[in-house]
Amino acid sequence: MRFPALLPLILAALQPAAVSTAPPPPCPWEMNKVKDIVEVNCTGRDLGAVPAGLPEDTGILLLNANRLPSVSTAAFQPLPALQDLDLSDNGLRAVHAEAPLPSLKELLLSRNALEALPALRGLPALSRLALAHNKLHALAPAAFRAVPQLQDLDLRGNALRTLPEDAFAGLRALKDLDLSDNALEELPAGLLRDLEKLETLWLSGNRLRALPSGFFPEGHLFAYVFLTDNPWHCDCSLVYLCKTLFLAPGKEPGWQGRSCCCRRSCTCLGAGKAKGNSEKGLFWGCGLGHHCRPL
Ligand SMILES: *[C@@H]1O[C@H](CO)[C@@H](O)[C@H](O)[C@H]1NC(C)=O
Repeated sequence: MRFPALLPLILAALQPAAVSTAPPPPCPWEMNKVKDIVEVNCTGRDLGAVPAGLPEDTGILLLNANRLPSVSTAAFQPLPALQDLDLSDNGLRAVHAEAPLPSLKELLLSRNALEALPALRGLPALSRLALAHNKLHALAPAAFRAVPQLQDLDLRGNALRTLPEDAFAGLRALKDLDLSDNALEELPAGLLRDLEKLETLWLSGNRLRALPSGFFPEGHLFAYVFLTDNPWHCDCSLVYLCKTLFLAPGKEPGWQGRSCCCRRSCTCLGAGKAKGNSEKGLFWGCGLGHHCRPL
């Protein structure tokens, strides 16, 4: 009868030893209150490799602002609950993605040194991919076929000059596509064909002089299309764009101030918000001038 009474004492004596055998996690963690998952913060720790010993239930892993030269998805296999992975600002030159991460939803790779799109085959649940400010200079046909659930794709600030017509084939859930600040000189007519859910398209800061007729799928309404900072060639070839964006069929040409025109002397097109709808705006820059006339 005495022996059971001793048991708590024995256990208490063992406890410090038991604790010291499990090393503390390499980075602080807390519950992310919005997503209700474990968030581990390894931001800015001068790490040259993915640390070992991360909590097994890690849902969000911040590894941004370190100095990882390359990373392999194999390093995250011990983290089956991983949803969001931030690898921005590392100087990454390669991402090896042979090992699948079936739960990964967000992959942030902005401000690295990637020259090619990483293989996305093992990331079927991906809904957000950020590759802004890398060194991508081309995309393969159907480059995103493996990630059909993608909703947000950020390719801003790369070195893309042209795109294959089917670059975004199969992205039927995509809502936000950012191609701004690249070196795009022209775009293929069918580029947006599969993007049935696209709400916002960023094309500002490129070298576009025109867009091909039929570029914007008929009947598709966008919330925002950003077109500023391109050397738009303001002549009759832009009438297509005017008609599509400014004078959608069945809509009043409710643009304030300036409007479309088709005259060689035309130097500007409208900028502003659609009348009576303050939320949906189309932003447009084509040089300033006051020689425009309504179509
Ligand atoms: C992560 O830690 C860094 C530095 O330790 C801090 O500056 C940053 O705000 C933290 N990030 C989050 C999302 O808590």
